[in-house]
Amino acid sequence: MAQLFTPYTLRGMQARNRVVISPMQQSAGVEGMATDWHLAHLARFAMGGAGIVFVESTAVEARGRNTHGDIGLWSDEHIAPLARIADALRRDGAVPAIQLGHTGRKAGMQKWWHGHGPLNETDAARGEPPWTSVGPSALPVGPGWPTPHELSTEEVESLVRHYGVVTRRAREAGYEVLEVHGAHGYLIHQFLSPVANQRSDRFGQQRWRFALDVAEAVRREWPDDKPLFWRVSLADVVDGGMEFDELVGLLSALKERGVDVVDCSSGGGISSYPTQGKSVSNGLLFRAELGKQLREATGLQVMGVGLVIEPQTAEAYLQAGQADLIGVGREALYNPNWPVHAEVALGVNQDYATWPQAYRMYLIRRAAAADALRKADMARSTA
Ligand SMILES: Cc1cc2nc3c(=O)[nH]c(=O)nc-3n(C[C@H](O)[C@H](O)[C@H](O)COP(=O)(O)O)c2cc1C
Repeated sequence: MAQLFTPYTLRGMQARNRVVISPMQQSAGVEGMATDWHLAHLARFAMGGAGIVFVESTAVEARGRNTHGDIGLWSDEHIAPLARIADALRRDGAVPAIQLGHTGRKAGMQKWWHGHGPLNETDAARGEPPWTSVGPSALPVGPGWPTPHELSTEEVESLVRHYGVVTRRAREAGYEVLEVHGAHGYLIHQFLSPVANQRSDRFGQQRWRFALDVAEAVRREWPDDKPLFWRVSLADVVDGGMEFDELVGLLSALKERGVDVVDCSSGGGISSYPTQGKSVSNGLLFRAELGKQLREATGLQVMGVGLVIEPQTAEAYLQAGQADLIGVGREALYNPNWPVHAEVALGVNQDYATWPQAYRMYLIRRAAAADALRKADMARSTA
């Protein structure tokens, strides 16, 4: 039995396999509301057999959005469309999961297809005006980027409480896995970095403080029977990222606060966006050996992600103890049926048993008909 397709249980959550659709921002939200685009986009991954499907980074407050199209959970009104998505994912056999994010000083950017720079007057004329971002210190992300408002101590404390409120909403929307976005140079990552965090209060003297307080606020509202994931950038752009030992210390402290899984991402710099001019060694490649070391050093479950293309590669990461869960991003955009195709490639379920019920009989007949056509072609060519 391929390990990729063994069921996965953590706290009270049960996933049918270890394929996780990584969170992928769509910039298709309206006033932070998830739309039918999100429903269709995510449901096809559940229909394609994934074990856990993540809703993209969901903003804990409006000013924490990366773009005008980011979705959020900053009011109770945002719950209903996200609940509809959670129901759809569950109905199609996947565990509904959601990532909570705040982009801090990287907020207020153009959508990719508008240039991915800071919002400007042209965007304002399109109905997408700039807003003032916030950060640990009044330091812009790079030359030419707006200076964020430096959060006061009270504002940081209020934001921490806000993470708790938003977690309550994610729970009410029916999600079973919650991930805190602590990577990619966004707000939590900014607080951790001496490059972005030059505060003199306790959130600067102890740069882990914000992350730890957020973990506590989230865990208070997230039921004991539901797993909590935390995303980190494992191999940072070389501009002030964390050394391995510090990361182990931070993750151990997060584990004590109820984090179960470290989601090992990479890339996304602290002090530039995008990452022009910075070196990201091996780009977004799966950090397999680092994942294994973290798994051993912290005792956390590990989700690895990055350019997983071949099912055999995913299986090899699991067999080598380099991960417990395999995140798939762009490959699933290319082929939302990646998990059910991977089952076939790894010799599991050759009979469409895990495909949507409504398809099965037709796919079995299709396979038989295709087989007959192939045999007839072969007989003709050898005649
Ligand atoms: C369209 C797109 C949107 C993304 N949005 C998010 C996001 O909202 N949160 C996040 O943590 N990572 C985000 N990522 C990163 C992915 O989750 C993933 O870690 C990365 O793409 C590497 O995996 P892959 O090589 O399988 O795509 C995004 C990636 C893509 C392609």
